[in-house]
Amino acid sequence: MKPLSEKTAHFTDSVIRRMTRVSNEYNAINLSQGFPDFDPPAEITDKLREIAARGPHQYALTWGAKNFRDALAAKHEHFSGMKIDPESEIVVTCGSTEAMMASMMSVCDPGDRVVVFSPFYENYGADAILSGAEPIYVPLIPPEFTFDPDLLEKAISQPGVKALILCNPSNPCGKVFTREEMALIAELAIRYDIYVITDEVYEHIIYDPYEHIYMATLPGMRERTITCNSLSKTYSITGWRLGYVIASPAITDRVKKVHDFLTVGAAAPLMEAATVGLQFGDDYYAGLKAHYTHMKDIFTEGLAFAGLTFTKPQGAYYVLVDISEYGYEDDEQFCIDLAREVGVGAVPGSSFFRENVNHLIRLHFAKQDETLLAAIDRLQDIHRIMH
Ligand SMILES: Cc1ncc(COP(=O)(O)O)c(C=O)c1O
Repeated sequence: MKPLSEKTAHFTDSVIRRMTRVSNEYNAINLSQGFPDFDPPAEITDKLREIAARGPHQYALTWGAKNFRDALAAKHEHFSGMKIDPESEIVVTCGSTEAMMASMMSVCDPGDRVVVFSPFYENYGADAILSGAEPIYVPLIPPEFTFDPDLLEKAISQPGVKALILCNPSNPCGKVFTREEMALIAELAIRYDIYVITDEVYEHIIYDPYEHIYMATLPGMRERTITCNSLSKTYSITGWRLGYVIASPAITDRVKKVHDFLTVGAAAPLMEAATVGLQFGDDYYAGLKAHYTHMKDIFTEGLAFAGLTFTKPQGAYYVLVDISEYGYEDDEQFCIDLAREVGVGAVPGSSFFRENVNHLIRLHFAKQDETLLAAIDRLQDIHRIMH
């Protein structure tokens, strides 16, 4: 048999999803893969029941059902202040995952380069391989996960750089980029004529006093920003696979074609049902923020009580816990032992860093109080068990 593709030969399976399997094997409380264990808003699931009876059940327009795009444009304008044309500036995709892949494929040719901050969400590595782009990593420096502007400029000014990927708020380090940092990135993007592809799936999961700034709203950035986002986290519907790209018509024209050939389109009945979520008022987003602040507080207080050292999230729903004291060389082995011996599933930090980092694990707290309290209870024994 001839060999399978060289391009995909170097893929490993997703470490995050592997850790979900490890958690299941040991019956651990799974705080590895980031998805909620609570229900989506009832208005959305009630609507789905109604849609199941009356449709639509056939293909929607490839770049998204009109009423979904209209609702999305109105919602995005409400929060960002940007007026969006739902016909020419939105492509609805199968999650932000496809939004990012379709954007990368639309921007990059083999041999091009993309700048990625490290730590990074693991899909960006695969996106780069499949689009043929070579990533150049710029470290985010703890504890605030700031970057060195000179190192960023050095990376952006390298030959062949087409784009920078900006995950804001960041998975896994919980960083929310400040206005000054965003302005610096924007200035470099304009000066070196590159695109900024954003991943803003945690736009509404943000903790006081931090605020989400939309890169596309910065002066000169609208035409060079490709905003990738989704409904997964905002409405607790990670399994519905509804995402979108917002960009200028010249860019979406290309993304629409890539998206059409990749997936044809997002699920028509789900778009229809999720439209009610896009029409929620401000109270929904205030409630979401209050709920996540509550989960963060329960979880981080519990971790502190267990004597653990960890990052303080500004946004998103992850913490990176320092495991240096346990003396493991291999953080994946630590996570396997943690699942088996302590009963809590985590992701090895090394899967998010370009640098040689193996002293961190990632836990997420998008869980019901009882799940978080049970995990915290188990973690009180971590020192005794893992030493
Ligand atoms: C930063 C980031 N981007 C994208 C995704 C995936 O989003 P979606 O479900 O919309 O594909 C995740 C999921 O955890 C994420 O953390």
